[in-house]
Amino acid sequence: MSYHRSFITFAKKKVMITFNNATHIRLEETGSTNSVLLEMVKKEHLPEGTIVSAGYQTAGRGMGSNSWTSEKGKNATFSLLLYPSFIKAEDQFIITQLISVGIMNWVKSLLPGCDVVIKWPNDILVNRKKICGILAQSSILGDRLQYIIAGIGINLNQSNFGELDQFATSVLCESGQQLDVDQSIKEIREKIYDQYTLLAEGYIENIQKEYLRVLHLLNEEHIFMSNQEKFSGTIKGVNRFGQLLITDNHGRSRTYNTKEVLY
Ligand code: BTN
Repeated sequence: MSYHRSFITFAKKKVMITFNNATHIRLEETGSTNSVLLEMVKKEHLPEGTIVSAGYQTAGRGMGSNSWTSEKGKNATFSLLLYPSFIKAEDQFIITQLISVGIMNWVKSLLPGCDVVIKWPNDILVNRKKICGILAQSSILGDRLQYIIAGIGINLNQSNFGELDQFATSVLCESGQQLDVDQSIKEIREKIYDQYTLLAEGYIENIQKEYLRVLHLLNEEHIFMSNQEKFSGTIKGVNRFGQLLITDNHGRSRTYNTKEVLY
């Protein structure tokens, strides 16, 4: 892979990233790891890369008004703290992109024969079923990102999803492998760190290109649903604000925010 440096949208000075001082706080049960980490970071300075994980969440949160449920002790449900203050607030979608790419790389390394893709904005699908969801919450100071809490739910050892069986999967379902949850979280953090370091070194375009390379349904005709309207179109990409760009079959360009279009 050739790397191209770009300093178009963020600080030109070299940014040093380390997760070396970070800890992993393990909770047996809590409401939501995002909420716990948010409360902690408001009270004290925590090292970058700090993780809060839970064996079970009683009020796991998904995107929008969705909830996130996960069988006790079987999967990775955790939140990771980043301080990407070298990124402008308006460019925060790059953080979503690098986290999705990092997790996608980890999933792909475990499931080399499977079709692993990112569904906009940040779901990871394996063989068209969801294996991972991400809920990123940001705090902004001036025109910069102050911190990001990246909440990650990834299905590892769960074999049954009940009524969601058609739509959800896990590493176990796809490969028969049983994984250690803590070790998996450690490896995922390393994969995210690799992408985050690339960003800090200025390789923003490489992350964007990789995200597009694995974007589900890019340049493929598909049926979409928005505002009760069903239409045929083709995903052409995402813009720097993270909006999805679709050209419909009448040649009209459409731009969508998260949750405004279903497919
Ligand atoms: C989604 O796909 O809707 C996002 C799901 C994010 C779930 C994770 S699990 C750990 C963290 N804590 C939460 O309450 N949510 C995120």
